[in-house]
Amino acid sequence: MKMDSNNKFINVKGTRDILPEEAVMWRRMEEIIRKNMENYNYKELRLPTFEYTELFRKSTGEDTELVQKQMYTFQDKGGRSLTLKPEGTPPVARMYLQYGLKNKSPLQKFYYIERMFRQEKPQKGRYREFSSYGAEAIGSASAETDAELIKSALDIMDELGIKGIELNINSIGCPKCRVEFIKQLKKFLEPKLDSLCEDCKQRFSTNPLRIMDCKVDKDKLTDAPVPLDYICDDCEMHFSMLKKYLDYLNVHYVVNRKLVRGLDYYTKTVFEFVHSKLGAQDEVGGGGRYDGLIKFMGGEDTPASGYAVGMDRMLLLMPEAPKHKGIDVFVVTLDKESDIIGWKLLSLLREGGFSADKDSLGRSMKAQFREADRQDATWTIIIGEEERERGVVQLKKMETGEQKEVPSDIESIKEEIKC
Ligand code: HAM
Repeated sequence: MKMDSNNKFINVKGTRDILPEEAVMWRRMEEIIRKNMENYNYKELRLPTFEYTELFRKSTGEDTELVQKQMYTFQDKGGRSLTLKPEGTPPVARMYLQYGLKNKSPLQKFYYIERMFRQEKPQKGRYREFSSYGAEAIGSASAETDAELIKSALDIMDELGIKGIELNINSIGCPKCRVEFIKQLKKFLEPKLDSLCEDCKQRFSTNPLRIMDCKVDKDKLTDAPVPLDYICDDCEMHFSMLKKYLDYLNVHYVVNRKLVRGLDYYTKTVFEFVHSKLGAQDEVGGGGRYDGLIKFMGGEDTPASGYAVGMDRMLLLMPEAPKHKGIDVFVVTLDKESDIIGWKLLSLLREGGFSADKDSLGRSMKAQFREADRQDATWTIIIGEEERERGVVQLKKMETGEQKEVPSDIESIKEEIKC
């Protein structure tokens, strides 16, 4: 449906239009993310909008819901299969390898604020184009890094005034200990195989772990074995270190033994931030360790860990909008000749670093003052015939109504309004 009932174009289903009042909240969110990530010494990356489809097939995983059902994939005129990025981790891993970033330092920490695209059924908190910020630490095997990542997300949410976040953590083990877990999972699933959905029947032989995040078969998995019961000593030690580091940081967590997350690259630590206010889409963010991905993509054996947070979801949890900041000056002019002088003055004010505006619709003085109020101007400058002849302007402080005559040169005006 491209049109509304009045035959006007509307936005594409699942995309979001952000109007000025909401844009203020977005800007605030972005500033706080940047400030915190840079305090944690993560460096910004900017990712392309689309990548070769193969990148996601290989790294996010062929059997994931994301790759099987949600990607926006298209062929360009050169016959290449391209995909609008549904997540940031594979592009970051690609950039890390493509630019040999490892050579700069053995631990590379990145963050990004990006649009993502997933063809899901839109509902509150779930869109087809959404924004997320992510953080990736490539090169560290330590649980200290996992705890640092978790803490950075909590700091950001805290500074945004978001209360009531619950942190779920788990360990899904490494490829070594997963062998036994998969064996037990298959044993559990085998008798139920006929009742599973077609995708899960397929996953049973290709990637049984992915059955655990199937939305259709969720109820049949209540008593399924969980990875935590099968992790090796090394993974067990890593998980207990993670808990210790979180305790040091006074971060409250819940061990959720069923948490596996829906992407193929995870090993050991997985975590999610959830909030009950979000209803069905209660996951604000999530991530985990992906120790095998860089090697899998052709690099050296390099441990890594990261997370991403849905910014549209954070926005739903943020307290009321801060007020839109008003402008410094609104110039009110009382006749045509004054209007030209006012227009030149406007330009000088802007050059001087003040936010300023004036009427350009030929409105009455009363309407111009109404507009100055609407724009929440701190000052108005009034210019009429008398002021013009005497080389002055009237300067009015809107909050108090105080008015004063000032010489009309820009330096005198700037001197008055700078305080
Ligand atoms: P993800 O859990 O697939 O993880 O997505 C991250 C966050 O994006 C989710 O927690 C959710 O808040 C938000 N999100 C996902 N889909 C939608 C949607 N359709 N509409 C609105 N928000 C959505 C990843 O993407 C991993 N790359 C995270 C990661 C980084 N793991 C390691 N490093």
